[in-house]
Amino acid sequence: MTAQLIDGNALSRQLRADVAARVKTLAGRGITPGLAVILVGDNPASQVYVRNKVKACEDTGMHSVLETWPATLSEQDLLARVHALNNDPTIHGILVQLPLPAHIDAQRVIEAISPDKDVDGFHVASAGALMTGLPGFWPCTPHGCMKMLEHIGYDLRGKHAVVIGRSNIVGKPMALMLLQANATVTLCHSATKDLAHHTRQADVIVAAVGKRNVLTADMVKPGAVVIDVGMNRNDEGKLCGDVDFDGVKAVAGWITPVPGGVGPMTITMLLVNTLDAAERSQG
Ligand code: GUN
Repeated sequence: MTAQLIDGNALSRQLRADVAARVKTLAGRGITPGLAVILVGDNPASQVYVRNKVKACEDTGMHSVLETWPATLSEQDLLARVHALNNDPTIHGILVQLPLPAHIDAQRVIEAISPDKDVDGFHVASAGALMTGLPGFWPCTPHGCMKMLEHIGYDLRGKHAVVIGRSNIVGKPMALMLLQANATVTLCHSATKDLAHHTRQADVIVAAVGKRNVLTADMVKPGAVVIDVGMNRNDEGKLCGDVDFDGVKAVAGWITPVPGGVGPMTITMLLVNTLDAAERSQG
């Protein structure tokens, strides 16, 4: 078997066209959705990510503001910027790019963002809403993975989903979203014994560890859906995921590539959250 590709670029183009159409409708009512992105320091990967986020906003007709601050910015000054953006009516979504410099308590900064503008979905109120099934912003990367499953028409009810990785940004919210879609969920992590024992039983596998070759062909049930959240570099410096793509694609039923899989979907779901925030602000 050769797995079918789930093309994150193609799906993103489709979803971003829907976003652009909704932005136009809102513009007719005099509202332009606005996203503020704060970058502290000069992490090169973060610089690329925030540029892509701001460009995606512009491409869909949204307003965006990029604030870049030196790594020496104090926590107090960063909190003051967040408070100012909370009170800025032209801004509907606030994103503070992580990681932050070590002298800043990232969780304190996230909790300072108004839950109504928490388009990253990292605020404890957003996490609690997801946990309890109440409306709130879902973290963009796992939400993008759910959109990919929806796109291929995959019914998760009663299926066994295995998530590898327990981060607050991907693994934990991913498990909750799969659970909400009626999958039976196993959440594996660095202390899991015999990872392959779990993955071999899975109908759906989401790999979100940040390490190459975490999932190899011998660990995958024939026909399974494999979603690769990893963003790593191989020995030649080429972008690669957590999954041994060439090996696993010979066994899986569906697979996401890296690049061109989950990555573009993360930014797309950020646009969707920002647009939702703008629409909700109108009541
Ligand atoms: N750093 C890496 N991914 C993300 C993300 O999705 N949001 C924020 N704020 N920082 C990140």
